[in-house]
Amino acid sequence: MDARSNQYAESLRSALAGRMVAEGSLRDERVTKAFLTVPRHEFVPLVPLEVAYADDVVLMKRDEDGVAISSVSQPSVVALMLEQAGLQPGHRVLEIGSGGYNAALLSELVGPGGAVTTVDIDPDVIERARQGLASTGYEDVRVVLADGEFGSPESAPYDRVVVTVTAWDIAPAWVEQLAGNGRIVVPLRFRGQTRSIALDLVEGRLESRSMRLCGFVCMQGAGASYERVVPLEKDTVRLGFDTDQQVVEPPPDVLRRPATQVWSGVLVDREEPLSDLNLWLACTLDRYCVLTADRSAVKKRRLAPIPGWGTAATVADDTLTYLTSRVAKNTETVELGAVAHGPAAAEHAEQMVRQIQIFTTHHRNGPGPALTIHPSEQLTESPDDKACLQIERPHTRLVVSW
Ligand SMILES: C[S@@+](CC[C@H](N)C(=O)[O-])C[C@H]1O[C@@H](n2cnc3c(N)ncnc32)[C@H](O)[C@@H]1O
Repeated sequence: MDARSNQYAESLRSALAGRMVAEGSLRDERVTKAFLTVPRHEFVPLVPLEVAYADDVVLMKRDEDGVAISSVSQPSVVALMLEQAGLQPGHRVLEIGSGGYNAALLSELVGPGGAVTTVDIDPDVIERARQGLASTGYEDVRVVLADGEFGSPESAPYDRVVVTVTAWDIAPAWVEQLAGNGRIVVPLRFRGQTRSIALDLVEGRLESRSMRLCGFVCMQGAGASYERVVPLEKDTVRLGFDTDQQVVEPPPDVLRRPATQVWSGVLVDREEPLSDLNLWLACTLDRYCVLTADRSAVKKRRLAPIPGWGTAATVADDTLTYLTSRVAKNTETVELGAVAHGPAAAEHAEQMVRQIQIFTTHHRNGPGPALTIHPSEQLTESPDDKACLQIERPHTRLVVSW
């Protein structure tokens, strides 16, 4: 690239960092400095500079079904995870899911006294990461082609394990290869949402320090796991269950039965993320699942409005109930409510609305949920009393409490 293009790239990089600081997605000074230093465009050489410096994911590869399997992550999500990781000079870091850009940022943050190992399962990604890191002066980063489920024991122990691909569980290798007071940052998916979670190792278990909603491509290899889906309305509406949940199928025509709507009186900003409320409903309502739908289903009025990612739902007593909203008096806020179809519609819609109100009174402005992850081999039979929700995964038990 000539000097003029390099200068232009630098100005775009600085503008992106400035916007991220102004929006609050870059808060840490050292992380900001790393963002100003690492040339993101070198890791996405085929896209225009303006795209390389937009706060957006750059999709790099799809599988044969068109599903995204590799990307260079969105800068604000990268920043969130780097801040959650609390990296210090001299740290040894393992990154699961590569591409080069984040590995270069990690390298900036741990400095010459630290060490970065980055692992990817895809040889094309490894090749791209190697090239990008070599051309930008980060050849010290160890780039490994492997299934990240098994970590990279050669350079362990690690002060930080940063997972940049959606995981359903904490692989035993990540914990085994973690230093005594280490931290794992991982986009963990449960009950239909992915949260980037910082987990500290405390007496053999992992305790959450922060959780933020995010999105990533899904893990492949030995740790891959998929939700089970019940299709409705010719697959334009879907109910998703985690593998530890019992799949409950409503009658196939349930959405064509009369709807009962109950409103909560709870007003929220249109943009307010409802992730804590969704988790509260997952904790407190029986037979929880996540309802997703094509836009056509809402347009055809098969469904009341729901957010793009989906919404909290329950299936019980042949009745499907889900969280919805309606525009309140002024257009900036919406009122939350429940819609139910089926023989026990009134009862289940009222139950959901009661939980919306309880959440609003006790938790909406609180610290939010905490997650403790117990490795399976340490599990006692007695469930944790304080636990609001226990999720069994192949290697761990996830315990959500409030
Ligand atoms: C979102 S991308 C990583 C982005 C990257 N950290 C960056 O610098 O922008 C996720 C990557 O995870 C990889 N991946 C998926 N399953 C994996 C596994 N089991 N082990 C290692 N890498 C995996 C994919 O090949 C993909 O390249």
